[in-house]
Amino acid sequence: MVFAPARLIIVDEGVSAHPQTLLVTGGAGFIGSCFVRAELARGTRVVTLDALTYAGNLDNLAEVAAHPAHRFVKGDIRDAALVSELLTAHAPDAVIHCAAESHVDRSILDAAPFVDTNVSGTQRLLAASLRHWSQLPSERAASFRFVHVSTDEVFGSLGPDDAPFSAASPYRPNSPYAASKAAADHFVRAYHHTYGLPTLTTHCSNNYGPYQFPEKLIPLMILNALERRPLPLYGDGKNVRDWLYVEDHCAALALILRAGRPGAVYTIGGRAELENREVVLRVCDLVDRLVPDGGPSRRELVSFVADRPGHDRRYAIDDAALRQELGWAPAESFDSGLEKTIAWYLAHAAWVAGVKSGAYRQWLDTNYGGRPGAPGAPR
Ligand code: NAD
Ligand code: DAU
Repeated sequence: MVFAPARLIIVDEGVSAHPQTLLVTGGAGFIGSCFVRAELARGTRVVTLDALTYAGNLDNLAEVAAHPAHRFVKGDIRDAALVSELLTAHAPDAVIHCAAESHVDRSILDAAPFVDTNVSGTQRLLAASLRHWSQLPSERAASFRFVHVSTDEVFGSLGPDDAPFSAASPYRPNSPYAASKAAADHFVRAYHHTYGLPTLTTHCSNNYGPYQFPEKLIPLMILNALERRPLPLYGDGKNVRDWLYVEDHCAALALILRAGRPGAVYTIGGRAELENREVVLRVCDLVDRLVPDGGPSRRELVSFVADRPGHDRRYAIDDAALRQELGWAPAESFDSGLEKTIAWYLAHAAWVAGVKSGAYRQWLDTNYGGRPGAPGAPR
């Protein structure tokens, strides 16, 4: 594979421990951009590396576009030469690895990009980080960190009475997306075990909040409810997810980066397990309250459609270790976070218009166009 040599590299000199300099991959995506904004706000210097796939969006970084401590580099994590150049030029104290293909439905249609980015990309990033780390003076090497942002989906699906996922849960990935993240996790583990690279791996549950691309459940439902379009629930709508406001996830990542134990694995969750249909009904009720247009309740837009193949039934997270060891707790409840999220989408019409490009419309046609209604689903 050949990568175009377009580069924006600015050499940083005299990097000090405070503020830290971070290399954030996938920083133009949903979670990555939240993390970048939060780190810049606390005085950290940030280099963002992002390939700007369909999910990456420079508008997600508009608030920090002119920030003097931020550099954005458009590039691919699989471009080993670029990653090495960035590590040498900016001498980051840590790599925060958020870049990924992240949508389960897309992985079901075509798994190849998930292997390319999530597996090969992570391995190449690890290799470049290892080369960089092994050349650092001992004090800097001791404090260097590689934070790998993984997912709870690698643990598979829970039954209604099963104990929540913890760092000790066995790997049982069910979707091509989950399989690619699981493979990446194993490479991270191997680079720690074999070479001593100071890695930390996190497994978080479902995030929601500002700047989330509307292929995912909550922003899709918000935008469809606002436009009074159908709200497509897969299967019987009773699949359960645990929900965490994205800023709370990023606060956990910041703590793990600074105080986590190298080699450790952390599970992060919101203690907000909900069936999908309950999530969608809450979106409907909030939109009805925030945007009263005299029409019928948005609940009437709910439409049951054919299920996602291999659809995991339930995720839940045991986050006791993170809370006890690092003192983390989420600031938002599901209801407070959801109201903030809907208010954000209402206040950011230009961002919404920007993401509803032809490519997004095409995705809606591909994923929902030929999808039959779910036989026997409650109406
Ligand atoms: P996202 O799809 O919004 O963003 C991914 C970003 O990675 C995009 O900006 C994209 O351009 C970039 N990217 C993709 N391929 C790249 C490549 N080859 N090189 C460089 N950049 C590339 O995803 P997200 O929801 O922000 O998720 C971020 C991370 O968090 C992912 O690793 C995901 O697996 C994990 N995660 C997500 C959730 C969630 O609910 N969204 C929950 C737990 C874990
Ligand atoms: O659990 C963490 C994971 O959460 C992350 O690793 C993934 O990157 C992220 O995409 C998310 O995966 P899910 O598959 O759980 O998220 P999604 O928003 O696609 O779907 C949430 C639930 O809602 C799931 O049970 C499928 C269902 N769903 C989704 C869509 C898009 C519907 O019923 N209808 C829909 O139109």
